[in-house]
Amino acid sequence: MGADVAGAAKQVRLAARPQGQPRASDFEVVAAPVPVVGDGEILVRTTYLSLDPALRPRMNEVSAYAGAVPLGGVIPSSALGVVLESRSPLHKPGDHVFGMFGWQTHAAVQATEARRIDPHRAPLPKWLSLLGLSSFTAYVGLAELGRPKPGETVVVSAAAGATGAAVGQIARIFGARAVGIAGGAEKCRQVVEAYGFDACVDYKAADFAERLDAACPDGIDVDFENVGGDILRAVYERMNQGGRVIVCGLVSEYSRDGFLPGPSLWPAVYKSLRIEGFRASRYFDRIPEFVDKALEWSQAGLFTHREHVTQGIGNTPQAFVDMLAGRHFGKAMVEV
Ligand SMILES: NC(=O)c1ccc[n+]([C@@H]2O[C@H](COP(=O)([O-])OP(=O)(O)OC[C@H]3O[C@@H](n4cnc5c(N)ncnc54)[C@H](OP(=O)(O)O)[C@@H]3O)[C@@H](O)[C@H]2O)c1
Repeated sequence: MGADVAGAAKQVRLAARPQGQPRASDFEVVAAPVPVVGDGEILVRTTYLSLDPALRPRMNEVSAYAGAVPLGGVIPSSALGVVLESRSPLHKPGDHVFGMFGWQTHAAVQATEARRIDPHRAPLPKWLSLLGLSSFTAYVGLAELGRPKPGETVVVSAAAGATGAAVGQIARIFGARAVGIAGGAEKCRQVVEAYGFDACVDYKAADFAERLDAACPDGIDVDFENVGGDILRAVYERMNQGGRVIVCGLVSEYSRDGFLPGPSLWPAVYKSLRIEGFRASRYFDRIPEFVDKALEWSQAGLFTHREHVTQGIGNTPQAFVDMLAGRHFGKAMVEV
């Protein structure tokens, strides 16, 4: 393997800055040389690429979140892969690993940046869904920040997606009621059937507010906010005294030209609300603890996850567009 193997690898690069909702034509899939491995590095052949909404703001000219992707740059995503070559004692050829390998077939990364995963403990795609960063985000967001008590009501938006599905199930494991918000009656039905939520409310329904009231007769104690905009406002208005608004993401605002102003802070005063944003990366040292717990819950029939798998790296741009538009159920990913 070496830089002279021109065209043996493929990469998905940013071809144009998306205007509003991204289009597949904002990306290009190009042939590239397989990278040369330096000291302390490993060469990884990617197996599954993650599709994450937070990549969208990074495609703008300026991004406060983790830095803007340069035009022509490889999309810097997390992924699973198998080690082809190693110049480090940490990993050996054949090891399966997780890391920021990007949307590409081959990546050379520092061995210390790759985390070994064990496909005997769970099949590969589960390491991006059930055991992946979005489920981990749900876990730390609830365990550390939301801290639902038994009997409390937790509402989560984008409930049919990667993070939301895990939030509802973990809320129930903690003894709380789980109410999802998702787009469309069919998605809501699946959220209840596949993941055991107590209820799921269709935000596209004309009577969304009445349905949210009916699903939360005792008000809302924890808002696990994934969407922002009108959905955040509707949930915020229904927060109980001492409630927690956990701001995980604002996907409805990622393709806008600038973020929306939030609702008034006044209810935070008279209801003693705690409003807290977070990035899961703050807690990465707790991933092993989470993986053990998630597998235990899964074996006990309490925790499950679906995958929406698109085949072929060439289909990654369209799969990303479809994920942002909600044309998936569970964790969206590409099998390379
Ligand atoms: N803070 C962190 O560390 C962290 C880590 C991971 C993820 N997140 C955040 O978690 C959220 C969910 O991410 P995910 O990876 O789990 O993706 P996901 O939920 O699997 O997919 C995104 C979903 O967002 C919903 N959506 C898109 N546009 C919307 C709109 N205008 N209004 C309402 N819903 C909309 C769609 O669901 P519907 O079909 O229901 O509309 C879509 O399925 C994102 O905000 C992401 O940034 C944060």
